[in-house]
Amino acid sequence: MNKITYKDFENGDISNLKDLCDSLMRFQAEHAKIKPEVMASMNFDNRLVPDYNNASRKYITVAYEGDKPIGFAFASVGEVTEDDISQKPIWAEDIDGVGFFPEGYVVPTTIGTYKLLYVDSNYRGLNIGGELSKMIMKWLNSHDDVEDLWVFVANGNEEVAKFYEKYGFNHSHSVFSGFIEAYTRKAIRRIS
Ligand SMILES: CC(C)(COP(=O)(O)OP(=O)(O)OC[C@H]1O[C@@H](n2cnc3c(N)ncnc32)[C@H](O)[C@@H]1OP(=O)(O)O)[C@@H](O)C(=O)NCCC(=O)NCCS
Repeated sequence: MNKITYKDFENGDISNLKDLCDSLMRFQAEHAKIKPEVMASMNFDNRLVPDYNNASRKYITVAYEGDKPIGFAFASVGEVTEDDISQKPIWAEDIDGVGFFPEGYVVPTTIGTYKLLYVDSNYRGLNIGGELSKMIMKWLNSHDDVEDLWVFVANGNEEVAKFYEKYGFNHSHSVFSGFIEAYTRKAIRRIS
């Protein structure tokens, strides 16, 4: 195996991430127990592209073997408002339960979200996910106005929580009756 290199950016072309992102969405759909069809409907074009284009503060880091992208991670920072708390995605209309943020969550607030993480299955266990996450956490913790950090894990993939726990995330609550599990931690600047 050749040397693994990393490139990070806050703007620019993400088209070379299509295959990795689609593989992540397939992975989630294959593991989901609740509404796998919702996971199966997600792909690079309707998930990462709009998320990336709509976020004013965003960060992507990509791992390469030679010129080939073999893993990536994506995070963003943005405000959560009352509207975000009360809105329900279309796919959740027939599911009860608390949404993305717990009851009583004080808004408006600025949060950082660790949005996506994927390493090609041929390259797992080599600390590539660890390196990508170290870079993501450094970026998420570099904003003066960020209170909380969040990561949302698709149902069926709960074992990856052990990975996020290494970065200080703890379980917060089940989103829409377990369709997603939410994990959170304080941004490092906010820990007194
Ligand atoms: C999660 C993922 C990115 C980890 O990437 P990786 O490069 O294999 O991870 P690393 O080699 O850096 O592993 C670091 C540590 O986390 C642990 N770990 C990795 N994946 C794990 C998982 N799915 N569950 C529990 N622990 C995991 C490893 O055992 C290792 O522990 P150690 O440092 O004590 O030896 C990769 O397994 C993956 O792409 N999984 C499928 C997609 C996915 O689950 N993405 C997250 C969506 S929320």
